[in-house]
Amino acid sequence: MNAKIAVLAGDGIGPEIIEQGVKVCNAIGKKFNHNLQFTYGTVGAAAIDETGNPFPEETYKLCKNSDAVLFGAIGDPKYDNDPSAKVRPEQGLLAMRKKLGLYANVRPVTTFPSIIDRSPIRKDLVEGVDFVVIRELTGGIYFGKPQGRSEDGNTAYDTSVYHRYEIERIVTLACEYAMKRNKRVTVVDKANVLATSRLWRQVATETGLKFPEITMDFMFVDNAAMQLIQWPGKFDVMVTENMFGDILTDEASVITGSLGLLPSASIGKETSVFEPIHGSYPQAKGKNIANPLGTILSAAMMFEYAFNLPEEAESIRAAVNKSLENNYVTEDLDKNNPHSTSQVGDMIVSYINE
Ligand code: IPM
Ligand code: MN
Repeated sequence: MNAKIAVLAGDGIGPEIIEQGVKVCNAIGKKFNHNLQFTYGTVGAAAIDETGNPFPEETYKLCKNSDAVLFGAIGDPKYDNDPSAKVRPEQGLLAMRKKLGLYANVRPVTTFPSIIDRSPIRKDLVEGVDFVVIRELTGGIYFGKPQGRSEDGNTAYDTSVYHRYEIERIVTLACEYAMKRNKRVTVVDKANVLATSRLWRQVATETGLKFPEITMDFMFVDNAAMQLIQWPGKFDVMVTENMFGDILTDEASVITGSLGLLPSASIGKETSVFEPIHGSYPQAKGKNIANPLGTILSAAMMFEYAFNLPEEAESIRAAVNKSLENNYVTEDLDKNNPHSTSQVGDMIVSYINE
């Protein structure tokens, strides 16, 4: 196979973790005889410094003309503490999602038996947890207009907007996922308060009728936040709006033991993007300590979803499992005996080559 992969490292630890992801892809390319061509583009704070635009037109074109995008992380503290900044790195990520039509963010939550003791949740509750959150990614309060401030600066507003077609396509995708799994879909909303959530319930119910084998239930987001911790094993496919999905997946990630382990795929109309769910972790920038496994597992999702190469994906996952089993991990998973970001990347490569 020949594939063109756009690499957007972004900010903070982005470049360090992406380097490991690319290493691993190259190892897979060699082992399975694929010709992978990587082209680097700028995004986020790095792109603002270079061009003034957090998602430059050139980067957009690069993504469009690639078969997949491998993405690091975005965000820089110098913007977080400056509410008056007109251009923000995160706008680059949002622009990328919108322009590439990436309406679905798929975030699988699975446990790794060898690190189950790292979970803050009791072992018997965590064992066997295996669900996927499908987060709507191009609508809701992240994108709704109007958004802004009153003239006197004392009032601010965001708007959540959802159209029927946006709900229909994401719920359809969730049902399709569930058909390949345990045929259960939980729609998370706040229909007791929000008008958008009531539309979600209505459209989800209608969409569910097209999947008679699926059991669909509805859960308020506050209740879902609680149940994720209390009974994480009961979920199969969860589908929800943009902001609820953002919050619930950070919560869900720690169930498995570390936020640094969770991969994701953003899919939609154009090139799909594969990225870890964690942020740019600026405190660790340049220190070679960040966990690269979320990125490496995102690369596995890329082989599976974008290139339809499940064996290659499995090879990566097996290597990740091995490094967890052998406790060859970064400091977030073992403070007493930590390995560096690049050491973990190298070890994964050597497991793949074994
Ligand atoms: C994520 C991130 C982004 C989001 C931020 C960086 C804008 O938290 O991908 O989950 O909120 O979507
Ligand atoms: Mn997030």
